Amino acid sequence: MIKVLVVDDDAGLRLSVRSSLASSQKYEIAEAVDGLDAVEKVKKDKFNVVLLDVDMPRLSGLDALKEIKKHDPSIIVIIMTAFANIDDAVIAVKEGAYNYVSKPVQSEDLLNMINNALEAYNLISSIAASSPIMMDAGRKIIGNTTQMVKVFNIINKLSKVDTPVLVRGESGTGKELIARAIHSNSARKTGRFVAINCSAIPENLFESELFGHEKGAFTGADQRKIGKFQYAEGGTLFLDEVGDMPALMQVKLLRVLQEKVFTPVGSNREIESNVRIVAATNRPLEDMIKKGDFREDLYYRLNVMPITLPSLRERKKDIPSMINMFIKKFNESHGKQIVGLTADATHCLQKYDWPGNIRELENVIEHAFILQEGKQIQITSLPETILEVTGVDIDALAKEVANEEPCDQELTTPLALESASPTSDEAKNGDSIEIGFEEGQLDFNKQKEAFEKEFIIKALKSFNGRINQTALHANIPKKTLLRKIEKYGINAKDYTQS
Ligand SMILES: Nc1ncnc2c1ncn2[C@@H]1O[C@H](COP(=O)(O)OP(=O)(O)OP(=O)(O)O)[C@@H](O)[C@H]1O
Ligand SMILES: [Mg+2]
Repeated sequence: MIKVLVVDDDAGLRLSVRSSLASSQKYEIAEAVDGLDAVEKVKKDKFNVVLLDVDMPRLSGLDALKEIKKHDPSIIVIIMTAFANIDDAVIAVKEGAYNYVSKPVQSEDLLNMINNALEAYNLISSIAASSPIMMDAGRKIIGNTTQMVKVFNIINKLSKVDTPVLVRGESGTGKELIARAIHSNSARKTGRFVAINCSAIPENLFESELFGHEKGAFTGADQRKIGKFQYAEGGTLFLDEVGDMPALMQVKLLRVLQEKVFTPVGSNREIESNVRIVAATNRPLEDMIKKGDFREDLYYRLNVMPITLPSLRERKKDIPSMINMFIKKFNESHGKQIVGLTADATHCLQKYDWPGNIRELENVIEHAFILQEGKQIQITSLPETILEVTGVDIDALAKEVANEEPCDQELTTPLALESASPTSDEAKNGDSIEIGFEEGQLDFNKQKEAFEKEFIIKALKSFNGRINQTALHANIPKKTLLRKIEKYGINAKDYTQS
């Protein structure tokens, strides 16, 4: 249903508009008696189209228009005006109204106008779809290392001011995530977060993409279109890969940053802009300035408060928490119940240098999720490239796997892994892989033993201390299980429940 708000102080007119629209089943109609009432209703409820009279008590149509657009620039406002007030209607269009119809409103005119407006609305929604909007819950940003704590402090400071921000860092280090965090922690959080990738826009469409265009502004511009700046009004515009912005656009961006106004393509009116710019790049802007590829004045404007994100290899301590986060995420999206990684798989991920940073880690975990059938991610589910780079003997591993006893047997009783005593603070939150990876614990054999012991205890608990059952369901040969029980000084009877 398309939600339409009819705003007029004349009840007769509201009724006639309502009956014009009622012929089509697709509208859900509400009414407001003046400008103030309209603004209140728009703030309470989501409307697609507002039909707005100009001359009204309490708050005029023009003032209501400004408030409505400030609240939600994507709402289509159509002005309904008496012929005598046509000048006001023209001003209203300049202020962002979609168009106007003259009173008395002709049913056909109005329906046509709304249909056209809806096409524009769809256009705007498609812009919205290509510009992911931060949900309230947001995603947790992981970082316990000193470098990341510094980043968090800067974000906090930046959230209280409105200056442009330049986020730098290698590919996949979280530049976009940080941009979103700045937005959702700032006073602009109720506004939109609109992302634009400067390297993905053809040069000849760039200006219209940023600033919009008037109908007929250039060949192919058969409709008026609003640009990302207008769409992000009151919010944050994220200019990803800003180093790839064409020279002419760099000048135009600088103008918006300095004067807070822009001009849509083919228009002679300036539009005021209240948008916070967060730009990101992994290109060497300083070198580009020397070569004349990036404007120095723009660089200084953007670089008021730079944030440089560390690479993942500089903060390997964060890897285990990241793994946990991705395991949780993929358990949900792939409908699995993976509980963690084996110690050797974890060790391998810890050893790798992650040239693609967190995005690469995320991909590796997802890759493993697709391959993994058991409850734990095994080293054999990691991509070969990682095994190779980290010096794992792939041929030996393949033989080992081939000689292993079958382990694809379904468990009849799920292992109660969660019930075991946690090994670290994180585990207490149910948010950890099986083995902690604090500093000083980077010893493969120790980790392996700790894991084995913990695993066997959990398995025994799950099967009431019964050796045969445990051996069968945990896929451990009985002899091996008994040997390990002895090695770790475990007393199976301790885990009998009755
Ligand atoms: N500190 C973090 N905590 C949790 N997830 C993170 C963190 N940093 C990055 N991610 C996740 O890693 C992935 C890559 O992050 P993002 O897209 O923000 O990187 P980027 O620097 O913009 O990459 P690119 O340069 O390739 O565009 C995303 O899924 C993001 O949610
Ligand atoms: Mg990015």
